[in-house]
Amino acid sequence: MKRILITGVAGFIGASLAREILSLSNNTEIIGVDNLNNYYDVDLKKWRLKQIEHFDAFIFIKGDITDKVLVHKLFEKYCPDIVINLAAQAGVRHSIEQPDSYISSNIVGFYNILEACRHSYNLKKIYKKTIYQGVQHLIYASSSSVYGTNEKMPYSIDDKVDCPVSLYAATKKSNELMAYAYSKLYCIPSTGLRFFTVYGPAGRPDMAYFKFTSQMVKGENIQIYNSGNMERDFTYIDDIVDGIIKVIENRPIKDKKEGYYRIYNIGSGKPQNLLYFINILEECLLSEGVINKNIKKELLPMQLGDVFQTYADIKELEKDFKFKPSMDLKEGLSRFVKWYKEYYTK
Ligand SMILES: NC(=O)c1ccc[n+]([C@@H]2O[C@H](COP(=O)([O-])OP(=O)(O)OC[C@H]3O[C@@H](n4cnc5c(N)ncnc54)[C@H](O)[C@@H]3O)[C@@H](O)[C@H]2O)c1
Repeated sequence: MKRILITGVAGFIGASLAREILSLSNNTEIIGVDNLNNYYDVDLKKWRLKQIEHFDAFIFIKGDITDKVLVHKLFEKYCPDIVINLAAQAGVRHSIEQPDSYISSNIVGFYNILEACRHSYNLKKIYKKTIYQGVQHLIYASSSSVYGTNEKMPYSIDDKVDCPVSLYAATKKSNELMAYAYSKLYCIPSTGLRFFTVYGPAGRPDMAYFKFTSQMVKGENIQIYNSGNMERDFTYIDDIVDGIIKVIENRPIKDKKEGYYRIYNIGSGKPQNLLYFINILEECLLSEGVINKNIKKELLPMQLGDVFQTYADIKELEKDFKFKPSMDLKEGLSRFVKWYKEYYTK
């Protein structure tokens, strides 16, 4: 029996990942933690939890990773073999208005996780008749935002990422540095994943595609910066989940240069034009009968701080894990729209 601790389990990626692991495996127990904060609709987080709580091998704990005592107690009680840290204050724009939660959840919270991983090797507990060996693999969420305004495309893990343009990005880059230090000092096998704009059913309402959808449904005009002449490496949730599962199964083996520390981009590797993306989204909403007429689009100039393109170089993930994102954009958006219709019109 393998035990996986997932933080941020009521979140978009956490809940989708937990559900997939529990459906695929009958020898894995998932201990899910989330503070169910109200950064966006808490009912959506509870709905996601409902999709997984019927699995016997799922344990949910409402708790905050900034609570060091709680985090250590969880490790002592459940002895996780694998830890996947997805809990974080997400969102680039929000970090301008509410910087505090980025420091507490993303920096202090992650530090608590690292400390608990470090001390897990001293627990030497008997758990379900076997001696607990401590955390075998720590996987944590980083972000494409660490690339800041780098102009070289595609974004490669070999590029310099020293110039974040938001506090959110700075916390994610800090996580990579903290993981590096802990991995070197205490030989914690760790893999950081730089996610690129994840979309799909039960996604995050604060993200642009979700907001556009809600505006279109209300019949409001939508505002598109740089006339939609931007590109984003949109990545479908199932491809992300598939990538994380592949990573879980292969913890880093000690290497001369990096030790037990690894970083990967995880994206589709196929940037899409924003206006094209919105047009497909609109087509899907029309064909599902969620809206019944085309929406007026206000084309505006480029916004300060926005980047023209995000484009993931995913060759390392392809080489090391045979990662192969396969979702077609039209199909991915159609699945999102079907979920949206079902969720909001039930
Ligand atoms: N979705 C994307 O496109 C994307 C892109 C880049 C990076 N990421 C990163 O991936 C991770 C998951 O993203 P997501 O889209 O699922 O976000 P999400 O906001 O849906 O999920 C995060 C979850 O963590 C929980 N949480 C936040 N702070 C917490 C704390 N202190 N203690 C316990 N729980 C806490 C929230 O309640 C939420 O349910 C995050 O670290 C995010 O920064 C996501």
